[in-house]
Amino acid sequence: MKDIKIALLGLGTVGTGVVNILEENKLQLEKTMDARITVKHIFVKNVNKDRAINTERYHLTDDINDILNDHTLDIAIEVMGGIDTTYHYLKQLMTSGVHVITANKDLLAVHLEELETLAAEREISLKYEASVAGGIPIVNAINNGLNANGIKHFMGIFNGTSNFILSKMALEGQSFEEALAAATELGYAEADPTADVDGIDAQRKVVITSYLAFNQFMTLDDCAVEGIRNVTSTDIKLAGELGYTIKLIGQAYAENDRVEASVKPTCLPVHHQLAHVDYEYNAIYIDGSAVGDTMYYGRGAGSLATGSAVVSDLLHVIRYIDTKLHTLPPHFEIESKALDRSRHLLVIGDETVTKTFAGRTVTTGETTAVELLNVSTAVFDEVAALDDVKIYEIEGV
Ligand SMILES: NC(=O)c1ccc[n+]([C@@H]2O[C@H](COP(=O)([O-])OP(=O)(O)OC[C@H]3O[C@@H](n4cnc5c(N)ncnc54)[C@H](OP(=O)(O)O)[C@@H]3O)[C@@H](O)[C@H]2O)c1
Repeated sequence: MKDIKIALLGLGTVGTGVVNILEENKLQLEKTMDARITVKHIFVKNVNKDRAINTERYHLTDDINDILNDHTLDIAIEVMGGIDTTYHYLKQLMTSGVHVITANKDLLAVHLEELETLAAEREISLKYEASVAGGIPIVNAINNGLNANGIKHFMGIFNGTSNFILSKMALEGQSFEEALAAATELGYAEADPTADVDGIDAQRKVVITSYLAFNQFMTLDDCAVEGIRNVTSTDIKLAGELGYTIKLIGQAYAENDRVEASVKPTCLPVHHQLAHVDYEYNAIYIDGSAVGDTMYYGRGAGSLATGSAVVSDLLHVIRYIDTKLHTLPPHFEIESKALDRSRHLLVIGDETVTKTFAGRTVTTGETTAVELLNVSTAVFDEVAALDDVKIYEIEGV
């Protein structure tokens, strides 16, 4: 039986879940991997803090050098969050040949390319299952389950907090403010909900998923973003009357060597499966060239759900240490640009507005919403430039 030595950076919500799973399933995990797994250090900010787990058997430290200078370590699990300092630590560990697992989408959305390049140079493993959709094994689904396919489109509900708020508004008639207050009370929204409500958290996950699906590094600027702050109860009601549900959808299309990625409130037909993903749940739909439509559903956050994804990465890394084998998909190299594709729109006006687009007259009013199906990119741009109407794209028709 081999010895695998781990350092855990962070013992908050996710770190505690990781330790719980490792303790609970120790025998089964060690038997499956034929490895003795030891958590050698746990790095935290405050070593004296009360913890939900018994820390007596672990070496808790607030000195990162205990980890950086320990040359016996095989794997570092980063679940502390943060970008600049954390990147510096991970880079140093990877340079010394330590395999890295991270749940940190904020960091990956900015530094994924450098870290992937470093991992390839050093022939080590970099894993980040928990960074997209928490407990849903979407990274593994793309890298392993779908690696016989080309992927041209994915779309999904990547942020549980905004989905919780939209569900409260649609299903319980709450206003945005009431729903946000409920999300905060239940711990789904942070004191500063900006990253969730303004779509930034989903944007980071779309950037990471685009890399996996299309083998294409993107910056955050390549993914247009709009959050849910301006979605009103009236918009939800009007969309509902026409058979649509409004969801915060992150998606990317690849076509003819080009990619278009976005996060925005989007209308889905009520019969679409993503329209029934409610409250804090996440779901991602992927169209594979061979398999066709697939969908992955589950908890996008939480201690054990996210810990499950991290420990799954740990098992993959232990296997990689043995075999040096990654299973990576044969993907396309593509260039990020807006695609010239036809779109479907729901146009809502605050006052009565009549406009003609490419010979089609559209009238919207305070109590009406109008569908505009199969519009070209040129017409879309014309409609989008108006400031007296509100536009939702319709997907899945
Ligand atoms: N929460 C989720 O459900 C979830 C889901 C998917 C991904 N993630 C990602 O997982 C990561 C961790 O999230 P979390 O919710 O577990 O965070 P958290 O509960 O705030 O825990 C962070 C942990 O890291 C430690 N830490 C933070 N900054 C540190 C520093 N500068 N030096 C030393 N230790 C430091 C904290 O130490 P103390 O305990 O001493 O304060 C704490 O133990 C983030 O990147 C997050 O985006 C979280």
